[in-house]
Amino acid sequence: WVGNMTENGKKISIAIDGPSGAGKSTISDKIASEFGFLHLDTGALYRAVGLAVYREGVDPHDADGVRKVAETINVTAMHTPNGQKTLLNGEDVSREIRQNVISGYASAVSALPLVREKLLGIQRQIALNNNVLVDGRDIGTVVLPFADIKIYLTASVESRAQRRYEELILRGEHPDYDTICSEIQARDIADSTREIAPLKCAEDATVLDTSGLSFEDGYALVKNTITERLEKCFIQ
Ligand code: DC
Repeated sequence: WVGNMTENGKKISIAIDGPSGAGKSTISDKIASEFGFLHLDTGALYRAVGLAVYREGVDPHDADGVRKVAETINVTAMHTPNGQKTLLNGEDVSREIRQNVISGYASAVSALPLVREKLLGIQRQIALNNNVLVDGRDIGTVVLPFADIKIYLTASVESRAQRRYEELILRGEHPDYDTICSEIQARDIADSTREIAPLKCAEDATVLDTSGLSFEDGYALVKNTITERLEKCFIQ
């Protein structure tokens, strides 16, 4: 029925914003593949810039140093049947950008206007040409302010830290829960207090809280909300 909704050629856009660890990316991935939408994980693009800065040994808070790196790199997302591949100068860095150290780099570089401008066009271009589910921090407020559906997905710090902890264990890392908790709190503050495009709930977004929910329950909550909205918006 998604095909019927788009008969007039208009592409559908769904924006999912929220703090890190609320489940945005994994939930979006599953829903997008079920609905036949393209899932754009915008955090991955900021992570790719963060990785480039990390590789160059530049301090991510050094605006001039980051600018020099950002000006010379090419960051893109390629969508395959197996999901998004994130490319840095043509190299597939999808796995490398998930390292814990890159989270802090991504958050720091994402506060710089030059980095945000560089990535804004890429995100809008992808959304223009596809039915998309885009997840990030400023999608409903800045990147796609006219998105058809906006969701703000959140969860308590403890619940997000627990998920991140389990994810890192699965990846073979040796995380410390308390450190993760403080890193998440620091990132929340940095992401929501930066001057440009801060993490913020759009006025017309539906707020959903996944604290204490299993992946399946969080996924069902988001999917039901989107399905209801799609029916209201596109099936009279
Ligand atoms: O979603 P994530 O944890 O992979 O995002 C990494 C960082 O990128 C996050 O700390 C903030 C930044 N980001 C952003 O500023 N705007 C977005 N739309 C997505 C991510």
